[in-house]
Amino acid sequence: MLDDASPTSPSGGPARSDALVFFGATGDLAHKKIFPALQSLVRRGRLDVPVVGVAKSGWGREQLVARARDSIVTHSKLDEDAFGKLVANLRYVDGDYGDPATFAAVRAELGAATRPLHYLAIPPSMFPTVVRQLAESGCTKHARVVVEKPFGRDLASARALNRTLHEVFPEESIFRIDHYLGKEAVQNILYFRFANAFLEPILDRRYVENVQITMAESFGVKGRGKFYDETGVVRDVIQNHLLQVVSYLAMEAPSSTIPEAIRDEQAKVLRTIRPMSAADMVRGQFRGYRDEPGVARDSSTATYAALRLHVDSWRWDGVPFFVRAGKSLARNCTEVTVELKNPPQVVFKEPPPKMGNYFRFRLSPDVMIALGARAKSPGEAMVGAPTELCLAEEGAQGAAGRMDAYERLLGDAMSGDATLFARQDVVEAAWAIVDPILHDPSRMYGYEPGSWGPPEADRLVEAVGGWNLPPP
Ligand code: BG6
Repeated sequence: MLDDASPTSPSGGPARSDALVFFGATGDLAHKKIFPALQSLVRRGRLDVPVVGVAKSGWGREQLVARARDSIVTHSKLDEDAFGKLVANLRYVDGDYGDPATFAAVRAELGAATRPLHYLAIPPSMFPTVVRQLAESGCTKHARVVVEKPFGRDLASARALNRTLHEVFPEESIFRIDHYLGKEAVQNILYFRFANAFLEPILDRRYVENVQITMAESFGVKGRGKFYDETGVVRDVIQNHLLQVVSYLAMEAPSSTIPEAIRDEQAKVLRTIRPMSAADMVRGQFRGYRDEPGVARDSSTATYAALRLHVDSWRWDGVPFFVRAGKSLARNCTEVTVELKNPPQVVFKEPPPKMGNYFRFRLSPDVMIALGARAKSPGEAMVGAPTELCLAEEGAQGAAGRMDAYERLLGDAMSGDATLFARQDVVEAAWAIVDPILHDPSRMYGYEPGSWGPPEADRLVEAVGGWNLPPP
C-alpha cells in the first residue's frame, strides 16, 4: 500500500508540511536536539503548525511541556516568546506503538492537517510497527517521514529496513537524517571545492599525497553504553558521518543545481571505494569501556577504528584516504587534511617536509579552512618554515549564531528539500564499503583514555609519515 507521492504546492514545487508528528518525544534525542531545534524554527518563523509529540511514558501534555523547557534550558537558550508559540502548538499522545488507538489519537490531534511530517526518533526495530500503524490510521497520505540513523546494521538489514519504509512511503517522501550533512562546515567542503578555480585542478592523484579524516572525541559513551555496545564506532559514525564527508571530498562536480545532482555524485563516488578488508583496519577499545553502565563485561565492541580506503576512480587511483574515529581520545576535534605531494627537492638543500602543502578543513568544535604552505625563514640560508593561511574561520563560540544541524534539517524536511538527507543508494553504497569488516572483524587493541588510540594504528599511515595531528 504505497501512499500518494510527496505533496506539491500549487506552483508545482514541494508543499510545506502542515504538521509535525514526532515519535520518541520523551526520549534522549528529543531532549538534546529536537526541542531546541523546534524553538529555533519557531523563532525564525519557519514553524507555525501543530507539533504532536508521541511516546509511551504514561505522561500528560504538561509533563511534555516541562520536558521541552528543560531541554531548551539545558542544551540551548530559552526564548520565552518563541517557546510560548511552540507550546501553543504542542500536543501530546501517550500510548503503545502497537495499539491502533494511539494512532487514532494522533490522527485526531492532526485535526485539519493534510500533509504531516512524521519524525521517527525511535529505535529502527520499531519502524515497521509505527509505519504500518500510521498507514492504517490514515496518517500517511501526502505525508513525509524522517528517520534517524542507524539505517540498518549492515547492507542486508539496511535493505530490509528500506523495504519496510517503501511499503508505505515513496523514496521522495523519505528523509534519512545524517546530521553531519546539516553542518555548515561539512557543506563548506562542497562549496569550497567547487566555488574556487584554484582547487579543483589539483585535487587528484597527480597532486594529492593522501587524505586524512580524524574524528576524535575526548569523552566516552556518556551514558549511552547499551546503544553503543550494540553499535560500535564503524556503525555509529564511520558508515554514515565520515563516509558522507569522504563523498563530498572525493566526488565529481554535480552536473547541475538540482538537488538530486549532488546525491547522484555521492552515490557514484562511494561505489568506487573498494569494500574494506581487515588488513586495512585497526580496531581499538579504550580501557575502562567494559565498566561503563550498559556495556557487556566481555564486550568486543570497538570504540576506535582507523581505516585505509582505496578510491578506485580515475581521479583518485592510488591516493590513500585514511579515516580514524574514536571515543575517549586526547582531543575533541574533527578535521580533514588533504596533503599535497612535495615539489622535487632539487632546488633547496632541506629535507622533504611532512605536510609541506595541504588544505585543512576543521569541522568541529571550531570551523576553519586553512592552506598550509612553506615560506623562507629570514637569514642567509635558503631554508623555510611552515606557515598557514587561514581562509575561513569561526571559533567554537560562533556555534551560538550558526544554524544547528537539526534545525536546518527539520526545516528542509518540512519544505520537502532532500538535498542534505541520505538517499537510499548512498546509504547502501556506504554499507557495501564497511560490510566485510562488520562480519569479519580484525583483532582488537586496547588503548588508554586520553591517548590517540592504539599505537598499532600507526602502521596504516607509515608510508605517508604518520597521522596528521590537529593543531591546538
Ligand atoms: C552521533 C553519534 O551520530 O554523532 C555520537 O551517535 C557522536 O556517538 C555524534 O558523538 C557526534 O556528533 P557531533 O555533531 O557532536 O560531531
